[in-house]
Amino acid sequence: ARLAILLSGRGSNMLALVRATQTGVLKDLAEVAVVFSNRPDAPGLALAAAHGCPVAALPSRGRPRETFDAEAAALLQQYEPDFVVLAGYMRILSSAFIQPFAGRILNIHPADTHQHQGLHAYEWAFDNQLTETKITVHLVDEGLDTGPILAQQPVSLHGAATLAEVERRGLAVEHELYPRTLASLIKNGKMMN
Ligand code: GRF
Repeated sequence: ARLAILLSGRGSNMLALVRATQTGVLKDLAEVAVVFSNRPDAPGLALAAAHGCPVAALPSRGRPRETFDAEAAALLQQYEPDFVVLAGYMRILSSAFIQPFAGRILNIHPADTHQHQGLHAYEWAFDNQLTETKITVHLVDEGLDTGPILAQQPVSLHGAATLAEVERRGLAVEHELYPRTLASLIKNGKMMN
């Protein structure tokens, strides 16, 4: 399967996915068709290029959502992706983007999307002193973190004394769950948990 990975920032999930296609659970199952960003200066884009991935960028700043989304979708379609994989892509998608890839757009959210949506999920878990949070991989619809859940994995936050520790534990699970969920989706073409 061909993956288009979308990011706006650091790119640690992108890197985990790239590595999985090279030597991990996605080997012989998926290849990275393109890593795309709405921020040309995103550190994750440079990281992707350094790992040999095709990269593309289209600045979203100051652009109306529908026109940007239509252009981004058209650009991505040139790479013929089977899945559009959001990895820290900091935009809510309009139907102009979702329609061409309906049912094939995935996102990872660092909380149970039934309990928390949007930014700052690790801060939310830390501030509320949760002893466990759930990393969620879900299909993307037009809402904010509202699409059907594909997989969830609990993270113990017991004894996590700092926000940095909460994030460290959560990201380790993210980096494992996202490639594994995609592999399962490609292999079985059905939901998993
Ligand atoms: C991750 O925590 C992801 O779950 C959330 O945004 C963050 C992106 O981090 N959607 P990175 O850019 O993959 O390092």
